[in-house]
Amino acid sequence: MKTQELTDTTKAMMAGDKGLLAMDESIPTCNKRFAEAGIPQTEEYRRAYRDLIVNTPNLETAISAAILSDETIRQQTLAGVPFADALKNKGIVPGIKVDQGTVALAGFPGEKVTEGLDGLRQRMSEYYTLGARFAKWRAVIIINEHIPSGGCLEANMHALARYAAICQEAGIVPVVEPEVLMDGTHTLERCRKVTQEGLLMLFTELHNQRVDLHGIILKPNMILPAKDCPVQEDDEIIAHTTIKCLLRCVPASVPGVAFLSGGQSPQQATARLNTMHKLYPSLPWALTFSYARAVQQPAMDLWAGKPENIAAAQQALYHRASLNSTARRGKYTE
Ligand code: 13P
Repeated sequence: MKTQELTDTTKAMMAGDKGLLAMDESIPTCNKRFAEAGIPQTEEYRRAYRDLIVNTPNLETAISAAILSDETIRQQTLAGVPFADALKNKGIVPGIKVDQGTVALAGFPGEKVTEGLDGLRQRMSEYYTLGARFAKWRAVIIINEHIPSGGCLEANMHALARYAAICQEAGIVPVVEPEVLMDGTHTLERCRKVTQEGLLMLFTELHNQRVDLHGIILKPNMILPAKDCPVQEDDEIIAHTTIKCLLRCVPASVPGVAFLSGGQSPQQATARLNTMHKLYPSLPWALTFSYARAVQQPAMDLWAGKPENIAAAQQALYHRASLNSTARRGKYTE
């Protein structure tokens, strides 16, 4: 096992007050967001958008690592530099999303499992050659009255652990993402129970698959009431509940925890990370962000696919990234 390399990468990813930028939307997801923003859904527009992000002035002061998709890691910036190299040249660690999305889980109506383990060992060594030093795999857990089932949690957490072991063998740090969705009407307490059960199962599976916890990053959801839950708790309750759950489930050997934003507004995602740092100034792991929508959305809307808007969009992207970095110090004000 390339223990030293994994440790060096996790250190670089958690450095200073920085966080991760998720810019790894699959082609269908990126196209969906482009359609909503009135942007043409073509490979050239996706490349131009990712070029805008990577060339944002001073991005590296707030962002330590960026997650690319399979399409982007094979593309070059508009100046002809492979995206992974362009990030590396700025001091940003390049990463790659390696899961292949979710499918219905046979025998479990309404539940999903993430695919992508077949051939992953070979793909992983290619991604290493292309410059990736960390990877991401997202499991999706849906809550309603009857689900998640134990069977669905187990299938997803087992796949995450198999993925993590394959990453570490290749010298690539696994970002392990068990996302409990905020769709529906469930309460904060229900989210807490499901998240806790999922995390406890995840760490058992990681142990069983001989994953070295010093060489992973956990990317969890915050503990939130569902979007359509009638009771929306304040940021302090969300922060206390989230941190208490993580302290109960996440061993201190894990070097970093980086939240997904999951559909929170950019302001909410930043404010809640900030509140956690204000209330808990000393935690066993580095605590940061790995947001996609909460960092990118204002920039994508401003860009709208027009070259004349690039500078304004880059400013908006840097603005959100640096506010999240401020939240890591508990010093954020909008
Ligand atoms: P959001 O921050 O938009 O939830 O995306 C993070 C991510 O990488 C989801 O896999």
